[in-house]
Amino acid sequence: MQVTKWINVLSLSSILFYVCIQQVWSGSSLNKNKGLVDHLQSFGIIQSKKVAEVMETVDRGLFVPDGSPAYLDSPMQIGFKATISAPHMHATCLQLLEDNLQPGMHALDVGSGTGYLTACFALMVGSHGRTIGVEHIPELVSTSIKNIEKTAAAPLLKDGSLALHVGDGRKGWPEYAPYDAIHVGAAAPEIPQPLIDQLKPGGRLVIPVGTISQDLKVVDKNLDGSVTIRSETSVRYVPLTDRETQLRGY
Ligand SMILES: C[S@@+](CC[C@H](N)C(=O)[O-])C[C@H]1O[C@@H](n2cnc3c(N)ncnc32)[C@H](O)[C@@H]1O
Repeated sequence: MQVTKWINVLSLSSILFYVCIQQVWSGSSLNKNKGLVDHLQSFGIIQSKKVAEVMETVDRGLFVPDGSPAYLDSPMQIGFKATISAPHMHATCLQLLEDNLQPGMHALDVGSGTGYLTACFALMVGSHGRTIGVEHIPELVSTSIKNIEKTAAAPLLKDGSLALHVGDGRKGWPEYAPYDAIHVGAAAPEIPQPLIDQLKPGGRLVIPVGTISQDLKVVDKNLDGSVTIRSETSVRYVPLTDRETQLRGY
């Protein structure tokens, strides 16, 4: 009798232990996403309330393939020789572009991939603004639309202020130019001229440039139309190239 009682007590405590561990490891994805944002804030990568809010709102877990460790600060394979960029790069680019992503502004995301950053841009510029994603792999464009449909940016897809297109992003997207903010999510050997042309005076382009070594360049178009270019940091991105070269593995 005594032995049975101990076994019951032991099995109850093991069950409780298991339940607690399960809760720790499978806490809601929103909590984990918040944890990731807190981490980026504690390292000073996210510096503004606006960027923290948008990254909390757009759950990275909805943008990575099933089974990927969504909340690690690391890029992840998404197929087609492409990756979702690391959260610290998303945060860095959002910080650099924040002033050019005010409500009502126009934003272009070249190499939109999973659509994560495109969704963030769309939430920042809102329904009176315009956000365009351009990605040259049609399957990624379809997946990115499905991803965004699960987020708070879904109504913006519906009302047309956010759209994702299949195309060669090196040509930009002239239809809604000039843009206040242009982001490029893949490294160009040099800055494509159409992207500079499609930047509004006062607008900003953030683009990784280089082949073996790459720098994240910040291109500001001044009010007189001249441009100022500076390097923000060293980075490592997949190349901005043509579809065939990418699918061959570069
Ligand atoms: C680092 S990945 C995705 C980045 C995206 N910000 C994300 O986090 O999901 C870069 C993307 O650029 C795309 N890409 C490369 N060259 C391109 C081009 N010429 N035109 C459009 N997209 C391109 C790739 O297919 C890939 O999806």
